[in-house]
Amino acid sequence: MTVVPQLKQQILPQHVAIIMDGNGRWAEQQGKPRVWGHKKGVEAVRRSVSFCRELGIRSLTLFAFSSENWRRPEEEVSTLMQLFLLVLQKEVKALHKNNIRLKIIGDLSAFSDKLVQSIKKAEALTAANNAMTLNIAANYGGRWDIVAASQQLATRVQQGEIQPAEINEALFAKQVQMAEQPELDLLIRTGGDLRISNFLLWQAAYAELWFTETLWPDFDQQVFSEAIAAFINRERRFGCTGAQIRELAAENKG
Ligand code: IPE
Ligand code: IPE
Ligand code: MG
Repeated sequence: MTVVPQLKQQILPQHVAIIMDGNGRWAEQQGKPRVWGHKKGVEAVRRSVSFCRELGIRSLTLFAFSSENWRRPEEEVSTLMQLFLLVLQKEVKALHKNNIRLKIIGDLSAFSDKLVQSIKKAEALTAANNAMTLNIAANYGGRWDIVAASQQLATRVQQGEIQPAEINEALFAKQVQMAEQPELDLLIRTGGDLRISNFLLWQAAYAELWFTETLWPDFDQQVFSEAIAAFINRERRFGCTGAQIRELAAENKG
């Protein structure tokens, strides 16, 4: 499906993140094991990446595995890891061909050497691509991100590079994941639950939130377009009044 042309003319989000939830329930509804849902979920990932690439969205960040997902049954965790490795090896060529840079965000220290090597290889291959960045959050937690940033800043203080009083929001923002990318504009969650589940806590400060009952394997261009259309119709005020925002918009137009 080609992207609705009207969408392209609007002010689009530059950075979209998605909590891809509902794979297990999708599979259960079909009387299949949960892992079947994860496998079908890969197709929704592919659709979402090409949708964003076509629209011209700069960054897409997908929550694939949270720092809490290790609590799941061993069999599900190991299938997810195998799937991750397989998809990484299989899809990276297509990403590269489409000029997409791949980044994995999360604590890689928990992954097998084989997986880490595969990640590094895929990132290196696509490092110079500049049409879009696809961030895959794996063993990611919003709190982990903030703690890791704090540790880096603490090290810099210890080494005498900066003073504690110099730590401010701007400096902190440079230490969290995806610091070099556009700010998060839109955060989508599929699967009907209304929570963040320890995803991008720092980065979501002023993101617009959009939730859908659609389970992740059913997520397609149609539903994604609904989210984008909702975003376009929102008034983002960033603490200002509506009148101030409309005045600014009029100035920019004139
Ligand atoms: C999201 O789907 C994928 C991962 C967390 C890896 P779930 O597996 O959480 O599916 P539900 O929420 O149980 O349906
Ligand atoms: C969030 O989904 C994590 C991912 C989509 C990878 P979960 O299914 O793990 O979230 P909770 O446990 O319902 O909050
Ligand atoms: Mg879930």
